Amino acid sequence: MSDYKSKIDQTKLPKHVAIIMDGNGRWAHEKGKHRVFGHRNGVKAVREVTEAAAEIGIEFLTLYAFSTENWSRPTLEVNALMALLVETVKNELDTLNKNNIRLKAIGDLSGLPQKTYKALLEGIEKTAKNDRMTLVLALNYSSRWEIVEAVKKVATMIKMNTCSVEDINDTLFTAQLATEFMPDPELIIRTSGELRISNYMLWQAAYAELYFTSVLWPDFTKEEFYKSIIDFQGRQRRFGKTGEQVNQNIAIN
Ligand code: IPE
Ligand code: IPE
Ligand code: MG
Repeated sequence: MSDYKSKIDQTKLPKHVAIIMDGNGRWAHEKGKHRVFGHRNGVKAVREVTEAAAEIGIEFLTLYAFSTENWSRPTLEVNALMALLVETVKNELDTLNKNNIRLKAIGDLSGLPQKTYKALLEGIEKTAKNDRMTLVLALNYSSRWEIVEAVKKVATMIKMNTCSVEDINDTLFTAQLATEFMPDPELIIRTSGELRISNYMLWQAAYAELYFTSVLWPDFTKEEFYKSIIDFQGRQRRFGKTGEQVNQNIAIN
């Protein structure tokens, strides 16, 4: 096994990594098991990646756990996922506190079942003072939902005369999003070989580096995570400039 961790450049770490955890169902299917078995095993990967990210000093890790579109799955699966969430948040609370990790959530949390909502709020409250890393669960989240909510907030501000149309800009709009407390993700990872964004962080992904791997989520390990960081660090982020300009800047600094 190659040691990716030791090859990571600590001076070029992304502050925020966002992950689309995909492939639980196929992982279970390969083993002749029910999809829910895949979700249960996905929790192990969540634990691994959270630890891995904290160990190298990532500040924000956002995991896409349930999309607004995922409600259209079979009821049994949806219920199992909601119950698994309660169980996981409760079970992991001590570990989160021990590792000084703060839990947060983005999404339409009021639309979650009462039990899930309560467990989540408790987890968020009990880890609120931790400051090593923030683990954000995107739950009942979709980017279009988030953007529409932000538009409503801006419209209300205008109606209440706390802002004028001329004040609307990138910064003001970004501040209305559910992700307002963190920087845009520099790196977005999707597992399971699907090459799409599935309504995740559309606004925030403007200049994110995308990393796709065919590894199914329950098989995603610390090493796989570190591998994605190494890949990210090998890329040239140009933000519209030419490669020569970017290189010159590096030479000057
Ligand atoms: C990701 O795995 C987990 C959730 C969306 C909750 P999937 O359940 O989408 O797994 P596949 O894509 O069917 O294999
Ligand atoms: C995206 O995965 C949502 C989450 C990971 C929670 P899906 O499996 O729901 O995405 P699609 O439907 O294949 O695009
Ligand atoms: Mg999927």
